[in-house]
Amino acid sequence: MTRLLVTGGSGLLGSTVARQGAERYNTVTTTYLTRSVDYAGVDCRRVDLTDEAAVAALAKFAPDYVVHCAAMTDVDQCERKPETAERYNVGMAENVAKLAAETDARMIHLSTDAVFDGEEGNYTVENEPDPVNVYGRTKLDAESIVQQVHEEVVIVRTNFYGWNMTSGQSLAEWVLSKLRAGETVPAFEDAYFTPIYTEDLTTYLFELLEKEFNGTLHIPGRERCNKLDFARVIADVFDLDSSLVNPSLISDVDFEAPRGRDLSLSPERTEQLLETAVPTLKRGLEEMRRNENE
Ligand SMILES: NC(=O)c1ccc[n+]([C@@H]2O[C@H](COP(=O)([O-])OP(=O)(O)OC[C@H]3O[C@@H](n4cnc5c(N)ncnc54)[C@H](OP(=O)(O)O)[C@@H]3O)[C@@H](O)[C@H]2O)c1
Repeated sequence: MTRLLVTGGSGLLGSTVARQGAERYNTVTTTYLTRSVDYAGVDCRRVDLTDEAAVAALAKFAPDYVVHCAAMTDVDQCERKPETAERYNVGMAENVAKLAAETDARMIHLSTDAVFDGEEGNYTVENEPDPVNVYGRTKLDAESIVQQVHEEVVIVRTNFYGWNMTSGQSLAEWVLSKLRAGETVPAFEDAYFTPIYTEDLTTYLFELLEKEFNGTLHIPGRERCNKLDFARVIADVFDLDSSLVNPSLISDVDFEAPRGRDLSLSPERTEQLLETAVPTLKRGLEEMRRNENE
């Protein structure tokens, strides 16, 4: 009997972890805050994870595994509201880590490539984080607090694409909606990352939960690409008009939160540890296309 608890079940990644989890584990509970969800075989409940007592009450589910996906992920909103970002990204992580420690559950804490400054790229876990915005700083602080509170934790730094089950729109979905509407897509050629498909990432998260490994790991997709290439591969894989994708520069945009230029992560240690090879971008997007109407 294995019990999984997933926070952020209404979010891009948490929805995949909860739904895939229901095929792998006996009991799956997931939490949401504002976007109510209902997945087959998953116990979905509304919990404000900033409320320490409400999180502690989840101990009644006696989870074996906890995957903490809930966070304040809007980078510009974090910059505008640093105190809320702190309360959400650090406070919720601390509450969830305490719950995992209390129930003796192995925990995965989702972190981000945005803990790096983006000056070098191809970051390994040996590289020193140096976030350039509030989002990255609060996510880095969360990594430390979670590891202080609980020993059986894996910190997973990543960046991903996939289908939202609720109202959100990921970068890939935004590109698709523009291309399908016949509209041009401005895509940054000076911003690099290593995105992985949510379904593939979720498989790795489950493998990690079932291993002895504790510590920090980067789980990127196989290729470093800029957002321009990303949008063009989406157009190719979904049989859409790639000439609608136009190069633009992130350095020309005045975002509220500064952005790192090259946040690509190295898959080195992940490939040594996990059994499945990290997939290519094209293969991940082909899988995403196959899953569109599920
Ligand atoms: N998206 C990416 O490419 C990316 C890249 C790197 C790292 N990450 C990290 O990966 C994780 C998942 O990201 P995501 O993009 O899947 O997130 P998301 O789609 O923005 O969803 C965030 C989730 O957090 C929940 N949440 C927010 N505040 C909450 C609160 N006070 N109490 C309870 N739940 C709360 C939201 O619930 P409601 O929507 O119901 O309010 C939602 O389920 C995050 O830790 C993020 O930092 C994401």
